Formats: sequence, C-alpha cells, structure tokens
Amino acid sequence: MCGIIGILGKHEVSPQILDGLKRLEYRGYDSAGIATINSGKLDLRRAVGKLINLSDIMVHAPLPGRSGIGHTRWATHGGPSVANAHPHRAGRVAVVHNGIIENFRALRAELTSAGAEFGSETDTETIVQLASQYLEQGMTPVEAARSTLKRLEGAFAVAFLFEGEEDLIICARRGSPLCIGHGAGEMYLGSDAMALAEMTDRITYLEEGDWAVLSRGGALIFDAEDKQTNRPMTRINVENTRVDKSGHKHFMAKEMAEQPGVLQAAMGYYSGREHDSLELPQGLDFARADRLIMVACGTAFYACQVAKYWFEKYAGLPVELDIASEFRYREPVLGPANLALFVSQSGETADTLAALRHVKPHVAQVISVVNVPTSSIARESDIALPIHAGPEIGVASTKAFTAQLQVLAILALRAGLQRGTLSPKAFAERLFELRAVPGFVAQALDREEEIKRLSEVLSQARDVLFLGRGMMYPLALEGALKLKDISYIHAEAYAAGELKHGPIALIDKDLPVIVFAPHDGLFEKTVSNMQEVMARQGKVLLISDAKGLAEAGEVPFRLAMPTVPDFIAPIVYAVPAQLIAYHTALHRGTDVDQPRNLAKSVTVE
Ligand code: AGP
Repeated sequence: MCGIIGILGKHEVSPQILDGLKRLEYRGYDSAGIATINSGKLDLRRAVGKLINLSDIMVHAPLPGRSGIGHTRWATHGGPSVANAHPHRAGRVAVVHNGIIENFRALRAELTSAGAEFGSETDTETIVQLASQYLEQGMTPVEAARSTLKRLEGAFAVAFLFEGEEDLIICARRGSPLCIGHGAGEMYLGSDAMALAEMTDRITYLEEGDWAVLSRGGALIFDAEDKQTNRPMTRINVENTRVDKSGHKHFMAKEMAEQPGVLQAAMGYYSGREHDSLELPQGLDFARADRLIMVACGTAFYACQVAKYWFEKYAGLPVELDIASEFRYREPVLGPANLALFVSQSGETADTLAALRHVKPHVAQVISVVNVPTSSIARESDIALPIHAGPEIGVASTKAFTAQLQVLAILALRAGLQRGTLSPKAFAERLFELRAVPGFVAQALDREEEIKRLSEVLSQARDVLFLGRGMMYPLALEGALKLKDISYIHAEAYAAGELKHGPIALIDKDLPVIVFAPHDGLFEKTVSNMQEVMARQGKVLLISDAKGLAEAGEVPFRLAMPTVPDFIAPIVYAVPAQLIAYHTALHRGTDVDQPRNLAKSVTVE
C-alpha cells in the first residue's frame, strides 16, 4: 500500500507532485521521493519518514523539471531507509511502484549475474534494473517498459520515467489501482483520483493488465494482450475529495464528528419516497439465496460480524464469515445459490479483492459495500453499495465503520422483507429505529469529555481487555483494534462468556477491562461475567445505558450511553470505542492519523 503519482506538466512539477503525495500519504508514510526530467537529465530526491522530510530536503536542494514521478511508501521488502525509498533508479530510468513483485528474487539473481548492482533490498529495484538492461540492449523506452512488464509476476501499479524523454511516462496496472488524469496540455497518473483532484476532474481508470504511454497530448492505452484499447474518461466530484481537517486537531477527530451527518446521508441515500420504504439497486435479490458469505478485513470484518446477527435474525439467511486473508486458502465450499458480500472502506484491500475474484465465478451474485464507488472492489462487484462517508483519511476507520453498519442494516432489512421473514410492520419499526441512529450517535459523541477523563487511566495500561456478548462482542473486537491501531497498547477482546475458559487468568488490579453491555437480553449474563472480573480486582469500565448502570451496582468506572433499541446498539456503541482509543492515544502522544507501521489501504496481500 504505497502511493504513486506522475505529472507531465507545463510548469515545474515538484510542488504539484508533493501536493499529490500529501493526498496519498494515508497509503503509507515510511519514506517518500520524487524524480524529474530537467533539460533531459534525470534526477531524484528521497527521504525517510513522512513527506515533510522530503519537502525539507527539496527546499535546500530543489528538483527542477516539468516531467516527474513521485512515491510515498509503506515498507514491504526492506525497511524504511533512503536506499529503499522510491523512486528507484538504474542508468537512464527511474521507477515508482505500489504492490509486490513475487518473482523478484529470481529476477534479482538473473540481473546480478548479468552485472547489475543493486543498491536496495526492495523488490521494486528489479523493475528498474530490468528496464535499464533492456535500454542498454538498444530497446526504445516503450519496448523496454513493455518487456519489463512481461517479466513481472505479482501485483503492481508502476510508472517509468526515462532520461532524455521530457514528454513520456509509461505506467501499468496489475493488481494495484491506477488512474490517469487529463489536463489542458498536461497529463497525470495516480494511485487514486484524490491525488489528482487539485489538477483535474477528468479521470480514466486503467483496468487489470492495462499499460499506458502518456504524453502531454494524451494517453495510448494497451490491454494485457498489448492491444490498443480505450477506457472511458469519467468526471469525478472533486468536492468529495476535500482533504482538510475543518478545524479539528486530527482527521480522526473530524471523521468521528462527521458521523451523524454521514449516517443521515447514508440513510437518506437508500430511503424511498414513502417513509417506510427503501430504494436499493435493481437486481438485489436475497429471496433465492441459500447462504450469504461475508468477507472483509480489520474493522470492515467486524462490521460483517455485527451484520451476521442482523441477516440471520431478520432475514433467516445463514451467514458465513471469513477474514479475507484466510478465506480462499481454506478452499471454501461455494454454490450457485450463494450470495457473496464484501465490505471495504477503500475498496482496494488486496486480500478482499482477491477473495472477491475467487468467488465470483461460483456464486449467484457479488455485492460490495464500499466507501469509494470507483474502487476495484466496487467495479468488480455485480452490485456495489456506496456508504457515502466521504474521504476517510485517518488510518483508524471510524465514520466508515458506522456507515458500513448502517448500510448493512439496511440490506438486512431488505433481505428480511424479500424473504418474508420480516413483516411489513416489523420492517417499518426497524427502519424507524435505523433512522434514529444519527441522533443517538450525536448523543454518544457528547460523552467525549467524560471519555477523555476515563482514557487517562487507560493510557498508563500495558494491556487492556474488551468484553461483550452478542453483537457487543464484535464491538469489543473493534474497540480493541482501535486501541491497538493508534495508542499501541496491547488490547484483546473476548466474548464475555468465554472469559472463564482461560483469559480470566489475566485479570489483576492492573488490567483495565472495558465491558460493552447495553441493557438488552444478555445484560444479566454480561454483568455476572463482569462481576467475576471485579472479584479478582479487575479495573472495570462498564459502558451501558441508564438502566444497565443502575442495575449493575458498584463498578469502578462507568460510562452512560443513550438508551437505544437493541437493533441499532452496535452502531451507537462504536462511538465510545472510537473515542476511548482516540483520547488514550492523545494521552500517549502517538500519531493518531498516521500511526506507526500502518497505512490506510492495504493493497498488498
Ligand atoms: C481499521 O481501523 C484499519 N484501518 C484496518 O483494519 C482496516 O479496517 C482494514 O485494513 C480494511 O480496510 P478496508 O475497509 O479499506 O478494506
């Protein structure tokens, strides 16, 4: 998950490339670099760490030129270092790359025995060494790039820049996203349209296996069989790509605060003209499905885990859940009456995309719930349902999670209606409750000051345990992930009833235990698990509603949530999970928006 960008401009490109990389930094920030052609000469600057370090270098060592490529890195092969930073250069060619070259060791051995001298530990350097070797054999840049691409196995979005070629960038897409931007006498390329939004709203998305020859006059696009082809140019809504903090200290804070509006928008988008009706894409058919397979990663997977309860309870539809990176390797049994549903904020997560491609030939329909309607997962689904959360820049997913839940709940209700397991009356009641979510989420956000105080205790912890039952168990998992994501505190989540089967050995006076327990049908059981913890001096924080807190008796720490219907509780209780992680991280001084070792979109397997 790196970000790449390229510009054939009419002006000096370095400032625009830096701006584009800033918009791509959410994809990785271990190092960054830019290469340009100036008066035919190829030159580059690279820096370890965040983009600001590269900017610093370029103030003192400017990089002139009106043709250039840039890169922001999440390290896969070879740690963060200048030597491993992209662009990589060999002879007269420079390359930036997002993905993994799976046959790089064999290529490296072949190139080394042919005399190539490698300066990095990366898989990417094999690309540029191959291209350089082909140039030295007398190939043209286009021939050298094409021949190089033929030798590569694995996933890549790659761009080549050649010394002496002021009006040429060659790029290719296989397994990692890449789009081309059309300017007035300028051409661009980027890992996503957001990177190019300051320069153009006219975007062409390359398809799998495509490669393209860019000049200021336009792009020649070739498919995987090297046949020249055309891909549609679309106009994106650049307004949606605004990436500022709107006065908040962090993107994560902004995105948490946006949730009432986002959830209102998602509800509105899928509401029909009548108050108790929904408007969903044609062809969405749950009636004949015998099983729903749900696959995702991370936070998106926990959204699926919640949705499993909804689909089974309200639609009587058996759900099979899988973490994307495990799914296809267990050789899942698939059938023609299965529905497959993929959830992904970025729509580019390699594991999830690979799982989608694995099932597509074998199931009735592939549905996706995504935040980027132009993403690979969306474009390869039979039906893609956008969550309309707007750009989510903070690496820790917040508004996307609650919006995913909102849309999944809508789908579960539609499934119940289609399958006849939900009466129109019950459907209308659940839909009424769903419409109330934005208001309840706003009330939950109002607990921020109290959560800020409670988080101070947490920030001193070495480990934290999250507990929940029923739909609160995936919420506990999400709370633990959020805390790990941004505060670097080790956290685990358990189904509360599972505690006595081992993990209760962890309990002592130094272990904070956070319990999600609205006053629902499982409340008593959860509270008795909580009391087992308190009997062993565990430091319990109970998150419940007024009735639950009143009945729970003496608890060291308490947080009151609004009283909400069971159906929508998981969406509302996501807010304290997010705020606890956020304020604990603030107390610890970690980088909330760009936590160490992480990236927003994991586009490598
Ligand atoms: C969650 O806070 C993380 N950002 C991560 O777990 C993320 O949810 C996961 O990588 C899936 O990403 P996706 O939704 O873009 O597919």
